[in-house]
Amino acid sequence: MDTLQYVKWLRGSSPYINAHRDRTFVLMLGGEAIADPNFENIVHDIALLASLDVRLVIVFGARPQIDAAYQQAGITSQYQALGRHLLRITDDDGIRLVRQVVGDLRIQIEALLSTGLPGSPMHASRITATGGNWVTAKPLGVVNGVDFCHTGEIRRVDAVALRRQLDCGVIPLLGPMGYSPSGEVFNLAYEEVAAAVAGALRADKLIALDEEPGVLDADGRVISEMTPRELEALITARREEEREGDELLRQLTAMFEASRAGVRRCHLVSHATDGALLQELFTRQGSGTQITEQSYEQLRPAHRDDVSGIVELTRPLAEAGVLVERSRELIEREIERFTVLELDGLVIGCAALYPYPEEQAAEIACVVTHPEFQGADRAERLVRHLEIQAQRGGFARTFVLTTRTSHWFVEQGYRPTTVESLPAARRSLWTPTRNSKVLSKTL
Ligand SMILES: CC(C)(COP(=O)(O)OP(=O)(O)OC[C@H]1O[C@@H](n2cnc3c(N)ncnc32)[C@H](O)[C@@H]1OP(=O)(O)O)[C@@H](O)C(=O)NCCC(=O)NCCS
Repeated sequence: MDTLQYVKWLRGSSPYINAHRDRTFVLMLGGEAIADPNFENIVHDIALLASLDVRLVIVFGARPQIDAAYQQAGITSQYQALGRHLLRITDDDGIRLVRQVVGDLRIQIEALLSTGLPGSPMHASRITATGGNWVTAKPLGVVNGVDFCHTGEIRRVDAVALRRQLDCGVIPLLGPMGYSPSGEVFNLAYEEVAAAVAGALRADKLIALDEEPGVLDADGRVISEMTPRELEALITARREEEREGDELLRQLTAMFEASRAGVRRCHLVSHATDGALLQELFTRQGSGTQITEQSYEQLRPAHRDDVSGIVELTRPLAEAGVLVERSRELIEREIERFTVLELDGLVIGCAALYPYPEEQAAEIACVVTHPEFQGADRAERLVRHLEIQAQRGGFARTFVLTTRTSHWFVEQGYRPTTVESLPAARRSLWTPTRNSKVLSKTL
């Protein structure tokens, strides 16, 4: 990537960096993902997310590794269909192998996380992962005469204890295991652990990594967005097909369960493509499939939580001299003057209205649309909204001061006027060095 491309990418991703900060993401990594040659890159991307203050929980599976260990030990796996899935019957020998394999994988993941972000200035950054007995399990017991032995199901998740870890900036690392109050160890489906943990934490996202780049349509193209209802229909259809060992079906089911438990966004991304996770999280087009209720764009008054979003949006323009420099403190103080356009938690546009009641005039300032979202009348909507607000407030006209965008405002019905026509209080702030053009519109 050349420098210019890099700068563009960084600018494009900045609203997402902001939107993901302090959010809780549960990552669901199957044993297949861990075995993939791309896994090292995934772990580095996880470290990057952690360094951006995303609260991460990792839930990993171990199915192919357990299969291999069974094979090596000369034990034949016994499976039994239960409800929707085929489950392994984990007998005494089996649970010993499961414990070893899961322990090994945990060490492998912890070791990789310890490498930080190699090749970057953050290579020495410490990413701390931890394990714990957060999942209480119970035996599946004997179903239709079949004893599932040490194969269990989830009884509850200790969300309070997990949150405590997250508050300390630590990544909880959970395997497909749970413990009973009597001290027994149970083998669980990691997808169910992930869904239960995401639901209990009211996570912002559950992210599944799969061989496929996402959910594919009939032509093999990735469907970038689906609603939980559409996902449910897909799950029903796949169940009817009854494919053996349908790993994707298990993941889709977990995503559906999590969305039902209040997780607003679930994602399915490739574990085999380098960068797919970051592309999904930091670009508008994404890479995989997002499960969410229809995304919607909201035009609303700004509140304190929007300050960072507004700063990110306006800073590059202030640095380029297009906008007047506004410090974070100033934006914080004047936040009630701002209106924002929010899309899926991102501030993608803003504008502010400053009243001058004595002159019945109001200034429209700081009109910005994020570069990735320009050209769809968003700024026009923002300006119209502020004009209506000014009109309702009894103002006779709105005016703007701009150095580079006068033509755009002319298209919005503004006419050039003189500095002398500005309200006295505003005139005194006009600086000859900036030499902004003044335009005004009668409401
Ligand atoms: C100006 C700005 C707010 C427009 O945002 P937007 O959401 O794309 O606006 P709209 O979709 O309503 O209008 C887009 C149209 O304005 C045009 N336009 C964008 N910037 C322009 C400018 N500086 N001068 C003239 N026209 C401009 C676009 O080419 C497009 O025209 P088209 O539809 O004929 O292709 C956006 O480009 C921006 O954020 N610029 C930097 C900040 C700025 O200059 N703010 C104004 C000072 S307060």
